[in-house]
Amino acid sequence: MTYNNILADENNGITTITINRPSKLNALNKETIEELHNAFDAANTSKTTKVIIVTGSGEKAFVAGADISEFANFSVEEGAKLAAKGQEILFNFVENLSTPVIAAVNGFALGGGLELAMACHFRVASDNAKLGLPEVSLGVIPGYGGTQRLPQLIGKGRAMELIMTAGMIDANQALNYGLVNHVTAQDELIPLCEKIAIKISRNSTVAIGSAIKAINANYKTSVNGYDVEINEFGNCFGTEDFKEGTTAFLQKRKADFPGN
Ligand code: COA
Repeated sequence: MTYNNILADENNGITTITINRPSKLNALNKETIEELHNAFDAANTSKTTKVIIVTGSGEKAFVAGADISEFANFSVEEGAKLAAKGQEILFNFVENLSTPVIAAVNGFALGGGLELAMACHFRVASDNAKLGLPEVSLGVIPGYGGTQRLPQLIGKGRAMELIMTAGMIDANQALNYGLVNHVTAQDELIPLCEKIAIKISRNSTVAIGSAIKAINANYKTSVNGYDVEINEFGNCFGTEDFKEGTTAFLQKRKADFPGN
């Protein structure tokens, strides 16, 4: 599929999705959000993609936020619809994918950019990254899940301060807060994400999908996470991956998972 605002490339079981509007610091306009939905959906349903990496093009920004020029004149109803649609097709969608998604945060991750990174399963940052939710400086609040995921990741007090001040933290502060898992030099960012992705891709994709579902259940009020874990644990016993994983262990060889 060809896109106007993103690039998607699969190599060695890893699909890298690059948001490609560098002149606008990769700001998320409507079309980019729709294209991202399609690219994530395609990678998640691909039989060969085992891990997805999402990053921004250029050396300056991951994503500098939702495209302010698109919503500056919105009404109350249009604002609510923008947030609801975005959450549905991109942010909640990414969080609930069964394929692991790593955010490679290569510069500014602001507003919707940090919200996208937080919707990913975990984050790795380059040392020039700057992260924040500056929406209150525009007279609005984060609308793509930022008020929910930021306190989940860094705690309520820190999230309150970061959102209220509309400030930015640097990569090392983000590491200290647990908002990103690793910080590296910019030219090492994608190689490090790929190294982690390869390690992930040696494991059972079915079991990883179950683990994502069970972990996410911890943050949903509508389900009991322990029950989801029991159910997903049980389901694993019916998979070919489980047969292969346990057989390989007993035969003292490396597992070669069929992925079902
Ligand atoms: N929406 C739309 N356009 C954006 C954007 C956004 N969120 N962030 C950056 N851009 C555009 C700028 O308008 C500018 O476009 P132009 O060259 O056509 O005027 C271009 O990207 C480069 O940005 P610029 O502001 O000139 O770069 P800078 O290095 O001086 O500043 C930032 C970088 C990130 C500090 C600054 O762009 C910024 O504050 N962006 C908005 C961040 C934000 O509030 N995000 C939350 C949105 S809800």
